[in-house]
Amino acid sequence: MRKSLLDRELRSRTGVKIVSEILKRTRGHAGQSTMNNHADSASRRAFLLTGSCMGGGLIAGYGTLGIMAGQFLYPADDGDFGWQFVASLHEIAVGESREYVAPSGARVVVARQTEQETADAFIALSSVCPHLGCRVHWEPHNSRFFCPCHNGAFDRQGQPTEGPPAAAGQQLVRFPLKVEDGLLFIEAPLSSIARES
Ligand code: FES
Repeated sequence: MRKSLLDRELRSRTGVKIVSEILKRTRGHAGQSTMNNHADSASRRAFLLTGSCMGGGLIAGYGTLGIMAGQFLYPADDGDFGWQFVASLHEIAVGESREYVAPSGARVVVARQTEQETADAFIALSSVCPHLGCRVHWEPHNSRFFCPCHNGAFDRQGQPTEGPPAAAGQQLVRFPLKVEDGLLFIEAPLSSIARES
């Protein structure tokens, strides 16, 4: 009788020990799980932050590109044009030309076509081909402006005569000129690049 009481007591204590061991381990796992959850949410935050930074960088990059493309494709306001000195009349002989770069960065070829001492003796045309943007130059022996990229040609007034610009009807942009006291001036874009086609 006494032995069976002792056996029961022993089994009961062992059971309590096992149960308390299980509870301890369960709490341990729960704590670890909580820590894992914190770590997960921290790494999720870091991922989202990195993603946001990358997204912001991309948007800023594309925004800058968009602004540059807009400056290239769309004309400046009239208010952005101004008269700029090009050269003295005697500095450009008949048949010669000179490249003029406007404050905006627009490139213009200024060619002298006659002996006259007036602005009509000159012509100022954008040196950017309206087809794909190659450099156009004046050919005095052919009396034309020529683009070597795809053999695009333009007459003395910048009208297309050959190649892709002629097929598409794309002329060179012309800029006004004036002469004052023997000096040649051009009305050119000051702050942004004018339309090149
Ligand atoms: S870029 Fe001038 S003809 Fe094509």
